[in-house]
Amino acid sequence: MQEGPTQMNDRLVRACRRLPVDRRPAWIMRQAGRYLPEYRELRAQHSLLSLCRDPELACEVAMQPMRRFDLDAAILFSDLLIPVAVLGVEFDIVENRGPVVSRPLRDAAAVAALEKPDRLDRIGYLFETIRLMRHALAGRVPVLGFAGAPFTLASYLVEGGASRDFRRTRLLMHTQPRVFTDLLERLADLVIACLEAQAEAGAAAVQLFDSWVGCLSPAEYRRHVLPATRRAFEAARRRGLLTIHFGTACTGLLPLMAEAGGDVLGVDWRVPLADVRRVFPDRAVQGNLDPVALLAPAESLAPMIDAVLADAGPAPGHIFNLGHGILPETPVENVSLLVQRVHAAG
Ligand code: CP3
Repeated sequence: MQEGPTQMNDRLVRACRRLPVDRRPAWIMRQAGRYLPEYRELRAQHSLLSLCRDPELACEVAMQPMRRFDLDAAILFSDLLIPVAVLGVEFDIVENRGPVVSRPLRDAAAVAALEKPDRLDRIGYLFETIRLMRHALAGRVPVLGFAGAPFTLASYLVEGGASRDFRRTRLLMHTQPRVFTDLLERLADLVIACLEAQAEAGAAAVQLFDSWVGCLSPAEYRRHVLPATRRAFEAARRRGLLTIHFGTACTGLLPLMAEAGGDVLGVDWRVPLADVRRVFPDRAVQGNLDPVALLAPAESLAPMIDAVLADAGPAPGHIFNLGHGILPETPVENVSLLVQRVHAAG
């Protein structure tokens, strides 16, 4: 990103509100990460958690993609699990595996033993990172905050780590629905406290990642997830935050996710953007290039980008993004190509 006269690029904010923009805003999930050589260089010296916990380093990492590409938002550099430290949950993030929770929550006693989210100072570095990012960006683009949605956070706490089918989480939901609801409500309280502090630190918008909620049926979502998630969106809105509601493999859940909240619905490559536009005319839409497309040579990649643009159509209220996080083996030139092509399309 060029230095120069400060002029607020408010394309992302305008797109969230479905207002016309001169060109479509673009950002990329995991835009700060392993596909960047400068990120790998820093990671060779620091663990992921130590990057997250040091505001200067976290800000530096968040700014790395902003220097290379003309992106329309800078996302807070942190990780999904960071806020659960406030509840007294211990975890680590293991290379190529993701979060690993030391003592997974499997029963009522474990859920009851969670601390109340009143020690936000335990993750004060997260809000300080947002302040440093705002300073570094000097108003050029908005800072996007984020949090895990209650279900996706619960899935890590119950499984103890990544999972293919979330069977322990679903078993808890089926066999001890009250314990499960208690867990989701406590996580909603945490998410709300965390989003409020992100708003106060200067985030303009936030994305709620419900990455794994697609493993549930609509009836299960309505009964067990919707109330807690809706409460989180309502709190964010009260604080003046614009909100993006993201999930993967969520085709059948989208109407309920929209009911739970979100100015923007973020979808993966399995969901046609044109369908989202038609069914939810009162929402903006974000997505949805397959991250694997970015591994392809330019002559294959370019038409796939164009197809996403065509699918979203010309109406205001589209934020270009991938359908899920960028893959570590992505060539950097392909990311330049993507951002340029989206912006050139107008
Ligand atoms: O988007 C960004 O640039 C901001 C940074 C960010 C990270 N994690 C940093 C990170 C964000 C928004 C997240 C969210 C996150 N973390 C989610 C939700 C998004 C999604 O993918 O659905 C989830 C599920 C997690 C948990 C997590 N953390 C996983 C599954 C992994 C990957 C494990 C692996 O090694 O592939 C992580 C690690 C992680 N978080 C990395 C980064 C940049 C990997 C790089 C590293 O180890 O340095």
